[in-house]
Amino acid sequence: MVAAWYMDDADTDQRLPHKTDPVKEVSVEDLKDLGVLYWNIPVEKHEDELAKVCKERNYANQDVITCSKEKLPNYEEKIKSFFQEHLHEDEEIRYIVDGSGYFDVRDRDDKWIRIEVTAGDLLVLPAGIYHRFTLDEKNFIQAKRLFKDEPKWTPINRPADDNQHRVQYLTSLEKESKRARVATA
Ligand code: LAC
Ligand code: NI
Repeated sequence: MVAAWYMDDADTDQRLPHKTDPVKEVSVEDLKDLGVLYWNIPVEKHEDELAKVCKERNYANQDVITCSKEKLPNYEEKIKSFFQEHLHEDEEIRYIVDGSGYFDVRDRDDKWIRIEVTAGDLLVLPAGIYHRFTLDEKNFIQAKRLFKDEPKWTPINRPADDNQHRVQYLTSLEKESKRARVATA
């Protein structure tokens, strides 16, 4: 099950949890409010369930990535680039098959939220959200990467504020805030 929290700003190893004391938890609803979607699909028989989600959401392609020192070519370089704050022009969709890691996303106030993913978690980051990824102290994750079209996971590093997908993302957040204000008025 996914867990998320606001990060502390300690200048220590990125692989540590970086929780504050007391911990400031972030709920699945809070994530949804940022356009970040989450499902849990037990690994034992995920094939069919995942296929269903792929069909519903038009995810046509997938591959599998294993991040470990032994399995990932250019390991050090890749790990560094994953942790460089960036965005994509398409959704980033990851289903965790094994291991664990942290996706960090920016909230509306540009604060880092850390999302812990483990086996069975399916996470969708919207196009245009600033984010990054790190392994945790176990140094191992295996994930299916799902794509709407051709595999396209080019990171566009921050600053990319004029990027059209960034602008669209911020507009969608604004609409979401208005909707929420109307709903609670
Ligand atoms: C990616 C993750 C590291 O772009 O955000 O694959
Ligand atoms: Ni990314």
